[in-house]
Amino acid sequence: MLASTLLFAAFAAAAPMSDHVHKRAGGPIAKPIPSTCTVTNPLPTSSGAETYQPAPATSDALLYSAYYPSPSSNKTALAEQCLQQCYGYGDSTQCKTVYWAENVVTPAGYRGSPGGALQTGCVFFNRTLVNADFVPAPAGQATDAFAGNIQC
Ligand SMILES: *[C@@H]1O[C@H](CO)[C@@H](O)[C@H](O)[C@H]1NC(C)=O
Ligand SMILES: *[C@@H]1O[C@H](CO)[C@@H](O)[C@H](O)[C@H]1NC(C)=O
Repeated sequence: MLASTLLFAAFAAAAPMSDHVHKRAGGPIAKPIPSTCTVTNPLPTSSGAETYQPAPATSDALLYSAYYPSPSSNKTALAEQCLQQCYGYGDSTQCKTVYWAENVVTPAGYRGSPGGALQTGCVFFNRTLVNADFVPAPAGQATDAFAGNIQC
């Protein structure tokens, strides 16, 4: 009885409620996307310097997210790693759309933080996002945004 109570307590402590959504940087293993799949860009066409980020309503399709300081200056490589992690998530069918950008506002509660810091974000969605799912980001935020819909 005591042992099972302790075991439960250990599990409860190790698995905070939001853990399925906010995983640590590192996260899913990057898996190269087979040439039989297509990756299309759902971001609205930018007029000028405007950048886009997922609208708040897309949180109902949030599968995974990670926020971290960019470990390199090669944005192409970082965005590609995030894309491949999306494909590597689960059995490679759950992550439909991936979003990556620098200077994204870290949400409150991420890894126990108050949020608000601008960090590099890699976010997975379990439905295919379209143009209308994105909104303009405040100036200086969501820079070099990349999004990809994976279809295999
Ligand atoms: C997608 O993710 C949301 C939020 O995490 C979850 O409530 C929903 O059940 C998921 N939908 C599918 C089809 O997996
Ligand atoms: C950045 O990464 C891409 C993709 O991995 C690679 O093709 C390119 O050569 C890299 N650029 C630099 C400057 O290292």
